[in-house]
Amino acid sequence: AAIGKGNFRHFMEKELHEHPVVIGDVLHRMIDATTRMPVLPALPFNLARVPRITFSACGSAYYAGLTGKFWLESLSRLPMDADVASEFRYRAPPLPEGGLGLLVSQSGETADTLAALRYMRAEGQKILTILNVPESTMARESDAMLETMAGPEIGVASTKAFTAQLTVMAVFALAVARARGSLADAEIARLCDALLEIPAKAAEILASEAQIRRLAPRIAEAADVLYLGRGACFPIALEGALKLKETSYIHAEGYAAGELKHGPIALIDKSVPVIAICPSGPLFEKTASNLQEVAARGGQVIVFSDAAGAAKLQGIAAETLILPEIDPFAAPILYAIPVQMLAYHVAVMKGTDVDQPRNLAKSVTVE
Ligand code: G6P
Repeated sequence: AAIGKGNFRHFMEKELHEHPVVIGDVLHRMIDATTRMPVLPALPFNLARVPRITFSACGSAYYAGLTGKFWLESLSRLPMDADVASEFRYRAPPLPEGGLGLLVSQSGETADTLAALRYMRAEGQKILTILNVPESTMARESDAMLETMAGPEIGVASTKAFTAQLTVMAVFALAVARARGSLADAEIARLCDALLEIPAKAAEILASEAQIRRLAPRIAEAADVLYLGRGACFPIALEGALKLKETSYIHAEGYAAGELKHGPIALIDKSVPVIAICPSGPLFEKTASNLQEVAARGGQVIVFSDAAGAAKLQGIAAETLILPEIDPFAAPILYAIPVQMLAYHVAVMKGTDVDQPRNLAKSVTVE
């Protein structure tokens, strides 16, 4: 049957509203409700023995993997290499014996990602994919697949498929940590519990959509927007910038907050909104001091944080979006939602073709 927009104006808006259900569905399938341990399908390789993961993807799927790299390396101590597929495929990287190739794709058809997959296979890697279309070419060429099962995504700019990819990556990182014995079971269960809180908190965010929409006018009138994050929230800053560029045609850049002083701080003046993705957590104080530098140069800091974080940044924020409190491990998934939703409202305000932005295709099957 044809897929409709229901009561929503755009597919992108409808798909944004599917976040809680899609994330909840991944968690339901991949976390055992009784033991609160990650559950993966049987894999034709031993996760405890893999010496290294080589990851590649394009667009938002690449950012999902970059977040996964942060989780995987810090929780399981397994090294993970990450590169965009269009670069990876031509850089002739040496890959280790017994290594695992990891590809993430909504469509399973992106030409560059498929070429990266084939390169990894030719280099003797086992292939694991995270895909939304289980009948796709990448699915057929995988040794194992973790499905995002986000349902059809019609809006060209990825939304729910991205948070589903992130959620699968988070559970996968916990499964690797468990296989390698790098975390105690009690800690893994605690982190699974943190993930299980996301759907309800995502629903809270959707219910306060007006709070996000109120930020749109300030962004819509800007020529350049900076997104800052650190750690696992750095890729969410990259996703925010990509989503804004794609849907509203406003120039935006995502930057690691600590790297700001090495260049982009030169751009800061009162006409540049700086969106800070800064949930409470181990890196909060570091990000706060980076934001202080932005505010001191007249930059308009728009803070995305929880109530405790927002209170600490009160003196420097031009605007604040208060989000539900969440464990830092799960924060990138939750914070992806307001970031995408803001891009949506800016695009609507600018009157662009939200679901089919100019020059873009949903699935890029040519090089
Ligand atoms: C296109 C879409 C992006 C998407 C990227 C990767 O450029 O516009 O939203 O992230 O392709 O697509 P894939 O299907 O491989 O996830």
